[in-house]
Amino acid sequence: MADKKEELLAAARKARKNAYAPYSQFHVGAAVLGAGGRIFSGCNVENASFGLTCCAERNAIFAMVAAGEREIREILVIGESEEFLPPCGACRQVIAEFATPPTVVHMCNREGQSHDTTVAELVPFIFHLKK
Ligand code: THU
Repeated sequence: MADKKEELLAAARKARKNAYAPYSQFHVGAAVLGAGGRIFSGCNVENASFGLTCCAERNAIFAMVAAGEREIREILVIGESEEFLPPCGACRQVIAEFATPPTVVHMCNREGQSHDTTVAELVPFIFHLKK
């Protein structure tokens, strides 16, 4: 796949260093490539009220939107697991909101090796609000 994986990986690893995860001790970093070529990153931010925790992917996407970008071309996520880290269901819905097919999703293991897929494959039958 022609992509910016290495740049995204570097940005996600850098963001992961700032992860606020005192409850799970599971540090996650994510990076998205916008249609305009810019990269935005995020880390997971946990909360004592657990349900308020926000994943790295959503924080990266929200940073992208705050900067005026609305289209995701690629997204990468890296945690600390031996397995490739798949975005959670909530993040999949948020990724799909801004994905412009075929949006590549790089799911990394802690070594930075990735299993690459697409949003369409990750989220079949996605909900979009159409009246
Ligand atoms: N987490 C993410 O940030 N992204 C994922 O793809 C999976 C889970 C975070 C949420 C929580 O802070 C910690 O990892 C453990 O679930």
